[in-house]
Amino acid sequence: MANYQPQRGTYDAYYEDALNIEKIEGILSSLASVYGYNPIITPMYESTSLFARSAGESSDIVTKEMFNFVDKSGREIALRPELTAGVMRAVVTNKLYATKDLPLKLCYCGPAFRYERPQQGRYRQFTQFGIETVGVNSYLSDVENIMFGYNALQMLGFPHIILKINSIGDEESRNNYRKALKDFFAPKIGCMCDDCKRRFETNPLRILDCKVEEDQEIIKDAPKMSDFLNDFSKEYFNNITTELDNLGVEYELDPTLVRGLDYYSHVVFEYHYISEEGTNLGAIGAGGHYDNLVKEVGGPQLSSVGLAFGVERLNLLLKELSPDTYAKTEIDVYGIAIGEEARVEVYHAMEFLRSNGFACDMSFENKSMGASFKIATRKNAKFALIAGEDEIKNGVFQVKDLKKQEQETVKAEDLAEYLQNKIEF
Ligand code: HAM
Repeated sequence: MANYQPQRGTYDAYYEDALNIEKIEGILSSLASVYGYNPIITPMYESTSLFARSAGESSDIVTKEMFNFVDKSGREIALRPELTAGVMRAVVTNKLYATKDLPLKLCYCGPAFRYERPQQGRYRQFTQFGIETVGVNSYLSDVENIMFGYNALQMLGFPHIILKINSIGDEESRNNYRKALKDFFAPKIGCMCDDCKRRFETNPLRILDCKVEEDQEIIKDAPKMSDFLNDFSKEYFNNITTELDNLGVEYELDPTLVRGLDYYSHVVFEYHYISEEGTNLGAIGAGGHYDNLVKEVGGPQLSSVGLAFGVERLNLLLKELSPDTYAKTEIDVYGIAIGEEARVEVYHAMEFLRSNGFACDMSFENKSMGASFKIATRKNAKFALIAGEDEIKNGVFQVKDLKKQEQETVKAEDLAEYLQNKIEF
């Protein structure tokens, strides 16, 4: 018999994990709507060139991690490695920018795919929840995005977050910086890794992403972006950090933060969390400002800013952080029938209670009372509803509070009201 294994880097989430992922997505999307963001849903695959163009031909995402293929009609297709590029493509395709009400405020949640080496918190299919503000005309939009991420992590229950920020300046600043990096690395590149050699030719900024240990000794002395910011870029970044100070947000200025996608300019940021046990999954969310992406994909020049969280990373850390408040699968009432006639009545009671909003379940099999109570406990039921011949004859049910271990006889017509008073929602 065939024995199918999950694909490398994929995972199955079920029960508590799946519930908690839904809970996280729910908290993030309700906060996004509080901040005035509207949902957008875009396809999971787009033309490969869209991602190559937006993430950057020299980025790891494009050179190593893209899930791309040729479809039956010869089109070059890629599963999206992130959602920003597709959202910007949709903004252009649907001319969403043609409105007097810029900036557009869009939020999304969905799978992304990267052909990475799997490890804890790093998958080949993962979920991103993100926001994008398109057509910004003030540094306050950047602040608002950073604050959204910061407040979202507070709402999710992270006790302390490390917010790293940096400015990679405007085009002019980055060109000057690239030149300085080239001058610095030119005499050393011969003894660096092959990836760095390639990056040196295509985009020397990417050398700073290198994870090869031996190269770090060289990289640590490389020039810093902050020394190459022109006056405009300096002032833009200064406005953002001043406002974060005014809002009492703690952050770390990290001059090495350049991010793995090529579309950024000005402010870039990442949120990290290291658990008491020392678990560090890298960035749990990240984003930044981007000036030319809408134009790159065929629209007008619109400065924008956005960020995305990795939902699985949030889930893994929250599970470790607060296993007690971690979402549980539970029901309000588990129905237990003694005999065939009672089973139908208990089933009717289940449907009646469900129509009143109670979560209910029962078994249609003949099981002993002991076995039925065990199922009720495994399902985390708050109450058991029990009926046999006598109860049916008298139009009543036995209702047992499984926590307090107290049982009462309740008239069929009073069931909903009775449970309403007993169950704390
Ligand atoms: P990113 O930093 O590439 O940014 O990804 C955002 C988040 O997705 C990361 O911080 C991480 O939590 C999660 N993530 C990335 N790769 C994986 C993986 N292989 N497995 C699990 N989680 C992962 C972006 O994608 C940008 N689009 C963010 C953005 C939006 N910038 C502007 N707007």
